[in-house]
Amino acid sequence: MPLSKGKGGEERRLKQLLDAHERWRARDCLNLLASENLSSPTVQRYLASDLSRRYTLPLDQMLHGEKVDNGYAGTRYTDQVEELASRATGRLLHGKFASVRPLSGHVASMCVLAPLLPKGARYLAVQPVDGGYDGYAPGYLPAVLGHEVLPLPLHGPTHRLDVEEVSELLHRDRPQALVLGQSFVLFPYPLKEVAKIAHEVGALVLYDASHVMGLIMGGTFQDPLGEGADVVFGSTHKSLFGPQGGLFATDREDLFQQIDAALTWRILDNAHWNRIAGLAQALLETERVGAPYASRVVENSKALAKALDQEEVPVIGKDEGYTESHQVHLDGEELKRKFGVAPPGFARRLEAQNLIIDLVGRLGTAEATRLGLKPKDMPKVARLIKESGLDRKDVRREIAAFRHRYRGMAFL
Ligand SMILES: Cc1ncc(COP(=O)(O)O)c(C=O)c1O
Repeated sequence: MPLSKGKGGEERRLKQLLDAHERWRARDCLNLLASENLSSPTVQRYLASDLSRRYTLPLDQMLHGEKVDNGYAGTRYTDQVEELASRATGRLLHGKFASVRPLSGHVASMCVLAPLLPKGARYLAVQPVDGGYDGYAPGYLPAVLGHEVLPLPLHGPTHRLDVEEVSELLHRDRPQALVLGQSFVLFPYPLKEVAKIAHEVGALVLYDASHVMGLIMGGTFQDPLGEGADVVFGSTHKSLFGPQGGLFATDREDLFQQIDAALTWRILDNAHWNRIAGLAQALLETERVGAPYASRVVENSKALAKALDQEEVPVIGKDEGYTESHQVHLDGEELKRKFGVAPPGFARRLEAQNLIIDLVGRLGTAEATRLGLKPKDMPKVARLIKESGLDRKDVRREIAAFRHRYRGMAFL
């Protein structure tokens, strides 16, 4: 877009855009994006706090012959906020060492992979064709960090990992790491078995929990560090209801030191301390209400998938119980074959009715759960999806009325 000189009306225009966005997305829409969530009013308050303007730089250095523990003065409270957040992360992920400095899930992946794997190292990771994160495709993180990525194949529409096949690949290719984690994730991995095999061939097990972080912390999905992963890392804002950001945890002091020593001035500097204050709050909320929240998210996903199926909207995974995560996947092929509409067109029809899903046909129930929706609400949500996407009915008034009932926030 060409840059234009600021004109008088642009500040007003900016305000109008933000107001319109908030009215639409935060008030009128029912959001079923798997990557998004709602954070509490306290988290929002901390995000807008004075910390949004401050710096701190904990370090251990000599400056003009004097030992200093920070590059800045004025940080006496900030550093304690970070400590609270890191400790809560460690408790929730069952790791002795944790950091909340990564600015996002993608950055968390860089923070972990760059120092642990030397340039030229090989690792196995799920590729986008099997529901993996695009960042692990050869042209992205591997190209940026100088690594070679080998595809970790998954099978079937529910993306299952075959332990024997992984064992063969690990023995044949002898990669330095096995990177687990997906963007399209319905079921946990048989992690204990694969971690054991990976360790036998000397590979680190690095678990990208970006999507399922809130479920892991709530104790419903799997316990990556407890089941053998060396490091768990990822986003803080998908199934976890924190501000947008990243974190990592490990039980191994040597790995933590390696990662931590490579953060400042390599991958980050300012870690955005208002975000960390908001995250600390979200993590403390998770310690309080994370278990019932995560269980409800999964119950809602199962109920939504089943109800969609009953409405004859094609979904993946009926024979396997549909899902154990916050996600529900539409069967794109079947949708196209039976109803002549592919997931992007289907999603656009829903968007026109203020129902938001992503264009690849992935739905998520984390935000709806935080709004207070329960399994009993899912038949109605499924019907509204069907009427919008297949029957092309105008259901905006019904959605507005439904949304009006859910103004508050559950699991506070
Ligand atoms: C598995 C996985 N890892 C990393 C990321 C990147 O996360 P973020 O958007 O927080 O940078 C995503 C994003 O969707 C993801 O699905």
